[in-house]
Amino acid sequence: MKRILVVGAGGQIGTELVPHLQKKYGEDNVIAADLKDDMVKKLQDICIGIKLDALDGEAFNQAVKKYNIDSIFNLVALLSATGEKNPQLAWKINMGALINSLEIALENRCAVFTPSSIGAFGTSTPHDNTPQDTVMRPNTIYGVCKVSGELLSDYYFTRFGVDTRSVRFPGIISNGALPGGGTTDYAVNVFYEILKKGHFTCEIPHDSYMDMLYMPDALEAVTTLMEADPSKLKHRNSFNITSMSFTPDMMFECIKKRMPQASFSFEVDPVKAAIADSWPNKMDDSCAREEWGWNPRWDMDAMVDDMLAAIAKKI
Ligand code: SER
Repeated sequence: MKRILVVGAGGQIGTELVPHLQKKYGEDNVIAADLKDDMVKKLQDICIGIKLDALDGEAFNQAVKKYNIDSIFNLVALLSATGEKNPQLAWKINMGALINSLEIALENRCAVFTPSSIGAFGTSTPHDNTPQDTVMRPNTIYGVCKVSGELLSDYYFTRFGVDTRSVRFPGIISNGALPGGGTTDYAVNVFYEILKKGHFTCEIPHDSYMDMLYMPDALEAVTTLMEADPSKLKHRNSFNITSMSFTPDMMFECIKKRMPQASFSFEVDPVKAAIADSWPNKMDDSCAREEWGWNPRWDMDAMVDDMLAAIAKKI
């Protein structure tokens, strides 16, 4: 990886992945693209930021050629809860950005990273220690796109030799840009609400387990996988990765230990509850550990300490 294009760079992952990549590969070797003008402006403060609609294959291809790109990070996606509000649009955006990334990578000999998700699993998947290779019959359009994306990315590797790699991200907890429209967003929003108002109303059932990951581990996962020795990869699209699994009750208890005055209530959103219920409680990530050395550093306690300090400073 020498010249990198990140598309959909203005979101929760992109805004932190871009500086992480710059540190590793050099400030001017990371080009960040987003559709929205305000995002492009923010990105331009730290790197070469360009306005690009990833669904416009011609413009996308031109950018790859102009900047001599060898690696594409495709972060364009509508998340799970937003996707359910407009499934056709979710398919168009999520699959459109992916097929363009793959086709352009094939033409220009680029590697491609596209995140998959716990959303690729569904109610018929074993929920505890969810295996790397198992039943994948998701119940959301987001998940349908993720499974299709995994298959398509593996197809481009086996059929055309495009170097595609991916991880199944759990909920990502971070203190930079906010996540937008996901089922796991509560685990980020809680910190802002508790520090601003002292109270948080949760839309996810109190006992719903989901896998989570703190952003520093998520960023390391991406670069470690993309740098991994290809001869060691038995899987490619996509690897289960996780570092913690908890319910809202467990997380709020952890916050209360540090802020005894914090209070919590529940107003469960039935759509989000059903999605959370269909996802794994805890994934088995041993293939990622064995094949490319996945080794997360952050557990729930360390993450909560760091998030409280970071968000307090921010607001
Ligand atoms: N964080 C995503 C969501 O909740 C899952 O990948 O939609």
